Amino acid sequence: MSTARHVAIIMDGNGRWAKKRHLPRAEGHRRGVEAVRRIARAARAMGLEALTLYAFSTENWRRSEDEIAALMSLMKRFILSDLDEFAANNVKLRIIGDYKAFPADITKLIEDALARTADNDGTTLAVALNYGSRDEIARAAAKAAAKGAVTAEAIEAELDTAGMPPLDLLIRTSGEVRLSNFLLWQAAYAEMWFTDVLWPDFTTEHLAEALASFGTRERRYGGR
Ligand code: IPE
Ligand code: IPE
Ligand code: MG
Repeated sequence: MSTARHVAIIMDGNGRWAKKRHLPRAEGHRRGVEAVRRIARAARAMGLEALTLYAFSTENWRRSEDEIAALMSLMKRFILSDLDEFAANNVKLRIIGDYKAFPADITKLIEDALARTADNDGTTLAVALNYGSRDEIARAAAKAAAKGAVTAEAIEAELDTAGMPPLDLLIRTSGEVRLSNFLLWQAAYAEMWFTDVLWPDFTTEHLAEALASFGTRERRYGGR
């Protein structure tokens, strides 16, 4: 039974969670943050080397100004309330995506958080912010070209995830069965696990179930 080193999650379904309860979408996102806290703790307790969470895509700018503002405000509050716990528990924060497009106050909070956990060597918690895989690959290819030959290895070395363990398991909640521009390159040989559970309802038990399923898979990488 193999164990996963790097798990990534497309945290989807906050809006539908709220809609079912006749609540504003922002309330779904607020409950989504509670799930983030729960799952980040579980990842640490389970000894995962890396957990990558899709929090805001390059396409999510298409949402209403109100919803984007609610997401930004939640992000800010999350860093302020949870950074001490990450720092104290040897969690290394990392951002993938171009977070510098966010408002200056958030960019500053993010940079402080990265600096405070930079020397930690426990679980890496990578948060995808203003992340899109096509954008990431294009940026990586341009950097590789500036340095020399554009090989798969050279591109890989310039991806936002460079240096992280290979992606083992990709989870998506809420019943959608698509990647929505997330980790397209890294998912080449990742195992997939889809569930109808909406992200605010996602528990440690669901994560354990996904990891157990991963443990039974035979990964062949094209060889026999
Ligand atoms: C995921 O929940 C959170 C983000 C994309 C920020 P959604 O907001 O996409 O929820 P649904 O898909 O509308 O239910
Ligand atoms: C993907 O979810 C992005 C995040 C979870 C941050 P979306 O809800 O934005 O994806 P689509 O629109 O259903 O493909
Ligand atoms: Mg969605």
